[in-house]
Amino acid sequence: MRLHVMGPGQAAYCKATALVITEFEDGEPQFGDELQAADAEALRGLCERGVITGKAGEAYYLSTPGSAYAGVLVLGLGAYAGFNAEALRRGAGSACAIFKRERVSHAVFDGTSGDALPVEAFIEGVMLGQYDFTAHKDSSGDPPVAVEEMTVIATEGERMEALREGCARTVQICRNANWARDLANAPANKMTPTTLAVQAEEIAKETGCTCQILNESEMAALGMEALIGVSKGSAEEARLIFLEYKHDEATQTLAIVGKGITFDTGGISIKPADSMHEMKYDMCGAAAVLGAMRSVCQLKPKINVVCVVPSSENKTGAEAQVPGDIVKAYNGKTIEVHNTDAEGRLVLADALAFTVDKFKPDAIVDAATLTGACVVTLGHYAAGLMSNNDDLTADLQLAADASGERVWPFPVWDDYTKLIEGTHADLCNIGPRAEAGSITAACFLKEFVGDTPWAHLDIAGTAWGGKHISYQAPQHASGYGVRLLTQWILNQSQS
Ligand code: BES
Ligand code: MN
Ligand code: ZN
Repeated sequence: MRLHVMGPGQAAYCKATALVITEFEDGEPQFGDELQAADAEALRGLCERGVITGKAGEAYYLSTPGSAYAGVLVLGLGAYAGFNAEALRRGAGSACAIFKRERVSHAVFDGTSGDALPVEAFIEGVMLGQYDFTAHKDSSGDPPVAVEEMTVIATEGERMEALREGCARTVQICRNANWARDLANAPANKMTPTTLAVQAEEIAKETGCTCQILNESEMAALGMEALIGVSKGSAEEARLIFLEYKHDEATQTLAIVGKGITFDTGGISIKPADSMHEMKYDMCGAAAVLGAMRSVCQLKPKINVVCVVPSSENKTGAEAQVPGDIVKAYNGKTIEVHNTDAEGRLVLADALAFTVDKFKPDAIVDAATLTGACVVTLGHYAAGLMSNNDDLTADLQLAADASGERVWPFPVWDDYTKLIEGTHADLCNIGPRAEAGSITAACFLKEFVGDTPWAHLDIAGTAWGGKHISYQAPQHASGYGVRLLTQWILNQSQS
């Protein structure tokens, strides 16, 4: 995506350009300065006749053969009072279908009308909305036309430079969100722990951060039985991936840890066949933290960040662990594995305990497609947020609000931790059936972070499957977490 931010009257139009303007549902229509007079006249008529209403989600395209641009797209933003960036993000998402139909390759967004709009949300909606996963599709036909260039028109003034920076940052972050979606959408036969580790190495090569990858014998030497136990049923070797970004003037170190199960059959406690194919997405936590880390390494904030991915397959091979097995994690705690399908918490246990011990971060956040229960509770519209620290919870809430990637808090009271006490070991890897499954999973993780401020994002629902979100393709991974975690890290780097 090529991006320009400029003042009114400077944009270069051609017949592959769409001019995008916005309308609120209430108040007089304001068409901005970029429109040619005849088009403004035509649009005014359409507003008067109630064809264009400005309702949220409305996207009206007017072809303008007499103008320098191909057409005008009017995005409805709903009522002025209830407006937030998400309305613009979704408007931009629905614009993508029109851009495709009209073969638009350059979108000019007029941000001068009315109050300062969060134009970054427009960029996000277009970049995320245009995403498609075509790596394994027949590509012999005409390549589809896509928006490859965007121009943002803004009122000249002090805001211009900040806007230019903000928009450039947004483009970078969205690129990484889409990159993370590519990782997540890749099928399990192409995306294994080994190939995932290669992707991390690529980040290091591109950006100059450091990368270290542990294999199973190295993990064994460190006492990571919980992680290795999950991998025993698979012919693919597990990997524990570390990326480290350092800034000379940093005063804090943050850690982000992502569940990287490249396929989850459930193991011996095998899953039903119906939607098992979706379990190629069980590395969406890994994709999220790697995408965020890529952003961090490119944007170079004043903070240290370590990104950790425990990666394994969960399968049923001859050596697979079986229910009742007891493993000892890196921090010495023993775990009775009553259900091999609760494998995410096992690989995270070792990764969290090791990260806390080795890197001593000021805060640690993990992202994981951890529980089906979270999908039952929140659907696909918010990640579960569980934490041992109120400040960290608040910081993540702020980042969620700013990025548009929602979180919703759950408690991690000791009463829930009691539900995962082991009979023959310290802990059991599952709690009682159908009782606060997302919370007991989080309480399990909490046992591996000690006193370090920690938060867990259960992204089982948000990682894929959201319907009627125009900038997300329901059959694809959403990239959830890349924008949120990047935002959080950038915010912390300035605090
Ligand atoms: N990866 C799954 C969680 C999941 C399920 C994510 C459906 C998205 C959609 C996880 O490893 C798992 O299997 N969790 C079990 C835990 C249970 C055995 C305590 C679950 O949620 O059923
Ligand atoms: Mn599982
Ligand atoms: Zn899983």
